[in-house]
Amino acid sequence: MTIPGLFITLEGGEGAGKSTQSCLLAEKLQQNNFKTCQTREPGGCPQAELVRDLLVNGEPDRWSSKAEALLNYAARDAHLHATIIPARAAGKVVICDRFMDSTRAYQGAAGNVKSDFIDMLETRIVGKNLPDLTFIFDLDPQTGLDRTRSRLAGTEDRFERKPLKFHESLREGFLQIASDNPQRCVIIDAEKSVEEISETIWRETLKRLVV
Ligand code: TMP
Repeated sequence: MTIPGLFITLEGGEGAGKSTQSCLLAEKLQQNNFKTCQTREPGGCPQAELVRDLLVNGEPDRWSSKAEALLNYAARDAHLHATIIPARAAGKVVICDRFMDSTRAYQGAAGNVKSDFIDMLETRIVGKNLPDLTFIFDLDPQTGLDRTRSRLAGTEDRFERKPLKFHESLREGFLQIASDNPQRCVIIDAEKSVEEISETIWRETLKRLVV
């Protein structure tokens, strides 16, 4: 029996290889006749893509962490209603590159926004539309930043330009989320090869798709 509308998120710091794995997972699902919806945050619908531009470009201190949390949640509200909820209702497997855990790690753990504020946004905006499965890509922050700095070349790099300490707190934040949510989260060692990671992701996804 297949479960309709599985919601999978990929999370982690910079340069961990989430986008590549998101594409590989979508391909494998399609080859196995699953309907997919591949999306991302911030973004994933026209309104949220406008907010993305505000968040990922410009000077690192352009927004306070609290403002970033609010902007991400404004984008998330639009994205959920325009894209995620309809795709799940249509029985698609939704693969989302970043979601609510990024706010908890970037703005909460690394940005020092209080967890009760993030809890409130999560409850009010995400509500019961929680991911079924989350892959947390874990990587030494400096390795990840070295990977993205050669790729990004000055575009969408506002968070990459925050200090290394920020990225170290971020990593701890994601590991804490994984340990707080062991049923939902699978930690991925992002130092492994693209093929090995893709196999792990496929194996874990199949466990949730076939019962
Ligand atoms: P990307 O580089 O993975 O496409 O993501 C864009 C940036 O936005 C990334 O540096 C992480 C950041 N971000 C947050 O700070 N909070 C959030 O809630 C989300 C979804 C992303």
